[in-house]
Amino acid sequence: MTRETPLGVYVHWPYCARICPYCDFNVYRNREIDIDAWSGALIRDLEFWAARTGGRKLQSLYFGGGTPSLAPLAVIERIIDACARLWGFEPGAEITLEGNPTDAEQTRFDGFARAGVNRLSLGVQSLRDEALAFLGRDHRAEDARKAIDAAARAFDRITFDLIYARPGQTLAGWREELTEALDFGAGHLSLYQLTIEPGTAFARAVEKGRWAPPDEELCADMFDAAQELTSAAGLPAYEISNHARPGEQSRHNLIYWTYGDYIGVGPGAHGRLTMEGARLATETLAKPQDYLAAAAKGAPMHAQTMLSGEEAMTERFSMGLRLVRGMRLNADDPFFQTDGARDKLNRLIADGLLAYDETASKATLSATPDGRRILNRVLYELLG
Ligand SMILES: C[S@@+](CC[C@H](N)C(=O)[O-])C[C@H]1O[C@@H](n2cnc3c(N)ncnc32)[C@H](O)[C@@H]1O
Ligand code: SF4
Repeated sequence: MTRETPLGVYVHWPYCARICPYCDFNVYRNREIDIDAWSGALIRDLEFWAARTGGRKLQSLYFGGGTPSLAPLAVIERIIDACARLWGFEPGAEITLEGNPTDAEQTRFDGFARAGVNRLSLGVQSLRDEALAFLGRDHRAEDARKAIDAAARAFDRITFDLIYARPGQTLAGWREELTEALDFGAGHLSLYQLTIEPGTAFARAVEKGRWAPPDEELCADMFDAAQELTSAAGLPAYEISNHARPGEQSRHNLIYWTYGDYIGVGPGAHGRLTMEGARLATETLAKPQDYLAAAAKGAPMHAQTMLSGEEAMTERFSMGLRLVRGMRLNADDPFFQTDGARDKLNRLIADGLLAYDETASKATLSATPDGRRILNRVLYELLG
């Protein structure tokens, strides 16, 4: 990779005030935080990777979780300072922090902004109290509204998440809720269809027949409504679940989707780095106590695996085809050396699921709107 290849850092903060019944991220209930132990471990992790990627500047830093808005401000400050010292930031670098919209967190926004956070991602999830209760959230719609206003005052850029396709939700109800959400004027929105993740409390409830998610047809109608309403409001989809005004796209997530380089630090964080032309996959110890103990002992904190060419290609396509604009696919791409590549591609184009623009100076493969809806099937047919 050249020194100009975008580089981002993801920091995983694994604690939450409580665990939501739908969530299968690497999360744990809040506990007493030892500020020095946490800053020390995360900075040791950063230093390990800086030694391998030095000379490049950061395009983005992303504090995700878990609930990093509950992390001590000193930890966030020390990490931002360490990143500035170890790599330096590109001009206009994006520094995002995920937060939950409870009162306790709103009072901390100014401190995060002073520390250098310039983009806040709020987990609003819904603007309806019944839905928030169903989702096991500890905030109400009124808290979400106040948090969005407070975030807009404190940060240059804000985004928030909503979860739709909840049981009992109607198409009309979703249209109304999303219209209200768009009225806040945020430059970016993430709209996620509720996924029943194996091993979660929601998966157990569905198995026991307590409730069922809406049928596929209604989910598809809700997805279409999201495309229509966000486009009309000037925030069209640029990725399956993400919508932005021009220029407001998440620069950090664009690194994932364009299969750029990112370092993952903190418990259970993943990273991908290009090393001598091959892809290195990294994963840190998942349990917070193991992670802290390894840092304290000076022991390894990560598993590292070189991906095969085929694995890296599958990841690159799975990420790139999520983007509305698609991905670069030049004629000399290793994809064209795989069995039956041209035939598979032509079949998916004929079925109206993929589009390939070979005429442009930068040849581009993209999924059509129908293709994006069933992307896993398209990927399986193309690469399987
Ligand atoms: C890992 S959370 C972190 C943000 C923050 N802790 C929060 O919950 O507000 C990131 C986002 O993933 C989404 N999410 C997590 N699990 C999901 C699921 N099973 N189905 C749909 N969206 C989900 C939620 O919208 C959430 O805001
Ligand atoms: S959705 Fe957010 S707050 Fe809820 S458990 Fe997952 S990370 Fe924590």
